Amino acid sequence: MLGPNFLVKRNKDMVSSSNSGPPEKSSGDINAKAVSGPDWLLRDLRSDVAGEVGAVAIYQGILAVSRNPSVRIFAQNHLRSERRHLQLVSTLLGKKQRTLLTPVWRLAGFLTGALPSFFGANAIFHTICAVETFVDTHYQQQIDRLQAEALHPEVLSILESCRTDEIKHRDEAKDLSGAAAGFFTKIWTFNVDLGSRVAVMLARRI
Ligand SMILES: [Fe+2]
Ligand SMILES: [Fe+2]
Repeated sequence: MLGPNFLVKRNKDMVSSSNSGPPEKSSGDINAKAVSGPDWLLRDLRSDVAGEVGAVAIYQGILAVSRNPSVRIFAQNHLRSERRHLQLVSTLLGKKQRTLLTPVWRLAGFLTGALPSFFGANAIFHTICAVETFVDTHYQQQIDRLQAEALHPEVLSILESCRTDEIKHRDEAKDLSGAAAGFFTKIWTFNVDLGSRVAVMLARRI
């Protein structure tokens, strides 16, 4: 059984190793401006904004409940990165094209982070792993289509940059989860994945 000290050490290692690598791009590194089409891209970007609003709220939900020092370091680091994603993808959409359901995504995200936090670090890490696995695929599909249609290289760079972070988030969560998901955690993460799919479907329309 891995104790909390192990988790604190792992987080410190990860923070220092991420500090020793190339610096994360700031929003100013990528020249982002609102895109005017095609329609499928605007819909996908609307779902991306909704997803990043939810992602910020997930980590806020974790921080509102969890007092575990290693979890808090993990959540604070990820929160910074999700705020950057939200800023980036938001600049790609005009105000009129943004999702109308922002309060819903905030609440859903907050609960997705807060609820497993009552059940300990392992439940949180499995939740994050499920969310980020979904987001990786979601961004990859858009990246594939943009490449296939040779459209908007600036949007492509932003989505690739976000996806790279999401993969790191997923892998960190996977590494930190000390035990296999139990029966209830599996049911929970199944619902998190299902909820993410429904959210994307709605955000692409509203
Ligand atoms: Fe993100
Ligand atoms: Fe993420």
